[in-house]
Amino acid sequence: MQKKLATIALALALGIGYTISAFAQAKPDVLVKQRQAAMTLQGKYFGPLGLMNAGKLPFNADVVARNAALLDALSQMPWDGFTEDTKGEKSRAAPEIYGNAAGFKTAQDNFRGAVTKLVGASKSGEAAAKAAIGEVLNNCNSCHKNFRTQ
Ligand code: HEC
Repeated sequence: MQKKLATIALALALGIGYTISAFAQAKPDVLVKQRQAAMTLQGKYFGPLGLMNAGKLPFNADVVARNAALLDALSQMPWDGFTEDTKGEKSRAAPEIYGNAAGFKTAQDNFRGAVTKLVGASKSGEAAAKAAIGEVLNNCNSCHKNFRTQ
């Protein structure tokens, strides 16, 4: 009982809407909010790098290195929020996420690989950094094309 109360208190304090179950699984609507928040932050920290790559912002190696490190963490976060029980929630998750789970996992892995490369390339000069930024962008776009509704 005390453990249950502590769980409720923790859930309230963190505002994470846990259901009171043995696995303390977040509720479907909360999972959707969290995965979209992680994507939104990826957009925030990738955005300036995309602009540098397109020549619309001056190249800044320090910003690339900092944002690459943030993306390294953020790019691990959305995926455990795509659970089957979120299917009924309003979101842009395409049915292929569940119909082609292996393909969705491959898209995540390829993306993670590109982000890891960017972390390394961010210390290797402008040309290498820009090539790695371009590769990350291709991964964002191809996953959105295949697994996000328009
Ligand atoms: C492996 C697939 C995948 C990759 C890679 C990916 N995304 Fe997404 N992204 C999605 C899906 C699926 C959604 C829709 C999520 C939803 O509505 O619940 C989404 C949604 C978004 C959104 C909208 C969030 C919102 O609040 O609705 C943004 C912004 C975004 N992604 C940015 C990015 C950026 C920037 C990258 C690359 C740095 C990226 N994504 C890489 C699959 C991916």
